[in-house]
Formats: sequence, C-alpha cells, structure tokens
Amino acid sequence: VGEVSPRYSAVKGTRDIFPPESERWGSAEAVCRSVFSGYGYGEVRTPVLESTELFARSVGETTDLVHKEMYTFADRKGRSLTLRPENTAGVVRAVIESGAATGPMPLRLWYVGTQYRFERPQAGRYREFRQIGAELLGVGGPAAEAEILTMLFAFLSALGFVGLSVSLNSVGTAATRERLGEALRSALASSASRFGEDDRRKLEQNPLRLFDSKDPEVQSALAAGPRPMDFLDEASRRHHQEVCGLLRQAGIPFTEAPGLVRGLDYYTRTVFEVVSQGLGSQDAILGGGRYDGLVEALGGPALPAIGFAIGEDRLLQAAPYRPPLRGLALVLPGAPEDLPAALRIAEEIRKLGGDLSVETDLNGRGFKKAMGRANDLFSRAGELGFDAGRMFAVLVGERERAQKQVTVKRLSTGEQETFSESQLAERLGAGRQA
Ligand code: HAM
Repeated sequence: VGEVSPRYSAVKGTRDIFPPESERWGSAEAVCRSVFSGYGYGEVRTPVLESTELFARSVGETTDLVHKEMYTFADRKGRSLTLRPENTAGVVRAVIESGAATGPMPLRLWYVGTQYRFERPQAGRYREFRQIGAELLGVGGPAAEAEILTMLFAFLSALGFVGLSVSLNSVGTAATRERLGEALRSALASSASRFGEDDRRKLEQNPLRLFDSKDPEVQSALAAGPRPMDFLDEASRRHHQEVCGLLRQAGIPFTEAPGLVRGLDYYTRTVFEVVSQGLGSQDAILGGGRYDGLVEALGGPALPAIGFAIGEDRLLQAAPYRPPLRGLALVLPGAPEDLPAALRIAEEIRKLGGDLSVETDLNGRGFKKAMGRANDLFSRAGELGFDAGRMFAVLVGERERAQKQVTVKRLSTGEQETFSESQLAERLGAGRQA
C-alpha cells in the first residue's frame, strides 16, 4: 500500500468501521434482535431527521442536550430540523402519529441507529454514535421495570458481560421535581457565586440539571443538599419499593443511586444507568427510565412508558463478545483462462450452504501468488474472524478443468487432495460447521 494523503477526512467526531469490526457490530445487533424478539419486542425504524420542536418539548429546552448539543439547521424551506440526538422522542411521535398509541397495549418496540450530539469528542464519546434501545408503552406498574431490565440483562449476558449492576433511583412525579427544584434553589443559593455561568443558569431555570454538572463545586454543594428520594410522593415511593422487590426476585443486580437524575427532562419515577469498567470517563454504557408523561405531552393519550438506550460504541468496546468464527474457501484459478471455471465452482460451493465464506481470486494471479495471500489470511485467522481449522484453498487449474476435478488444500495442515467436482459437497461438507 503506497503513501496517500487523503483529500477528504471524516467529519470530526464521526468514524468509519470496517470488517471485521463492522461484522462484529452486525453480529451483536443480530444477537440483540434475537433476544428482544424473544420478549415480544418488534423493531421500529424512525427517521434521523425530526422537527427541532419535538426534542425541545420532550427532552427539555433547558437540558444540555437541547440547549448545546443538537445538530439543528433550517432546511431549504426554512423549517427547523434536527438530527436526532436520541430516539425516544421519535418513537413516541411515531407511535402517536400512526395511531398505535390508541391501539392495543402494551406496545413493545426496539430500535438501533445513529444519533447525533455536538459534544466534545473523546474516547467513547462521538458526535455520531449508535444506540440500541427499547421502549415499552402502556404499562404503569413495576412489572414493566422488571421486564425491561430482565431483557436488558439477557442481552448483556449474551454479549458475555458478567458482574454488571444497575444504578437505580426514582425521580418521582412532576410535582416531586418541582418541590426538589425549589429545595435545591434555596439550599444552593449561597454557593451559587462559586458556580460557573452555565450552572448558575441551571440553578435558575432547571435546578435538577445541576446533577449533570462535572464541576466539583457544584457536586459538593449537591452532595450535602436535598435528593429526589426526600420528595417522593407516597405512590412513587411504593412503586420504587415494588420495583426493587421484583428486581431482587428476578436476580437483577442493582444498587440504589440517590444522586442519579439523568440528563433528560421526560423522566418520571424510575431512572437507571449501567456503567462498565475500563471505559475511562465515558463509562455509562446505557441509560433509561420511565416517562409516564411524555406521550400525553406530545399530544397523545395519557400512556405510561419506560425504556432504555445502550450506547453501541461503548457497548462493543467493553463487551467480551466475539461473533461465531466462519470457515473460508478461497477459490484460486491457476491462470486467467481458469477464471470462468473458478467462478462456477465458487458458486457451487456457496450452494452447499453452511457458514463458509467463498472468495474467488478474481485477478487470476496464479497459484503461487494466490497461495501467498491464502497463507497470510490463515496466519491472521482469529483476528479476521475465521475458524483456522476450516480454511481451504480450492485450486482450479488446467489439469483440474480437463478432468472436471478440483484440488482442495486444507490451510491448517497443508494436506491436499484432488477429487471430482461432483464430490465437492461430500468433501467440503466435512469442513463445514458441524
Ligand atoms: P442517554 O443517557 O442520553 O439516554 O443515552 C444513552 C446512552 O447512549 C448513554 O448511556 C451512552 O452509552 C450513549 N451515548 C450518549 N451520548 C453518546 C456519545 N456522544 N457518544 C457515544 N455514546 C453516547 C437516552 O438517549 C434515552 N433516549 C434513553 C431512554 C430510552 N430512556 C427511555 N427510553
């Protein structure tokens, strides 16, 4: 590979993902689909573009997300559009717009897709990133929390995670937040002069958002101050206790996190997060909670709901998950004249089924060069996602063609055998996955 100086580069905070890493992502998404559909969740696909107003109304005008992090622009007709920074608002909009919000309940939906936030990029934090999420609408009782978190843990363990635990809290109702906000304003008034401008604005406009601040001054003022739990109404307190009881019964490990309020305004009652070791400062692999008022706030019926979103980039960085290894058959023409036969034989091998990848040496470089590449692939088998014991070179040369034969070389042992084409299924079949 020669030196190139690229004329274009990816936009800051975005990235390209190539095989085999992209294969690993796709495979993890397939695991997700299989686990979630086992719980009756169906995939919903909503647009990346939504009206700006949708996020202002749902996530909240004074949140950092809406206030500072959205990719917002006017389209050619002057409408204000935003690249979705999260997917819950879009799902709720879609559910209302389609009429599903007034149909049979509950609604169980999941999604995977890119989200956009204008944040300062760093390890685990991108401006374009992917989320895998699920939303359960129409269930107000604690069984919803139990199902959502059980499903989440089923997925996390399918990816090989062990020892994860949910941080759990309740932020109560809108009235709780109102009272907590008032209490925070008076408790923190005397410290406010030591806060930055942004946090002073939050104290004024939306004191709960101070919990998102990274400023140690703010954090230490908050540590001594009031907590959501102190302001919970009786029904929310009971709900929280029932959630804890069900999670214990389900064997979902959790710890109470009284300082957890989450950065989005739509949450009511249950909020949760999961962090993973070894990810540095951006260690939250997922977050979620209940949003019992959102459907109604966006013009739908009063419908309780709960959900979560996993940051797929962080998830895959932390997950021990490796996709199942595949076999590989490299079909190598001895010379350019052997290409038509090689293409035909490659197609026959594909028809045998199984999980073999079948690649033809389309440049017809001859056995020597092509075997060089085959051995190179073999030496990196694990890294490339191949099962070293099931890697073959299928040689198609003049001699083979004349006799309607193929020569198959097993890369791990170097053993080589020539047999008739009609025996391909039988011979290579043995090399396919048991
Ligand atoms: P969120 O906490 O804003 O919640 O995002 C969920 C997850 O997305 C985070 O825990 C993190 O793993 C990932 N994430 C967020 N920002 C970035 C970034 N800049 N780069 C990489 N990963 C990132 C929500 O979005 C809610 N919609 C979750 C929800 C669903 N609540 C109820 N239903």
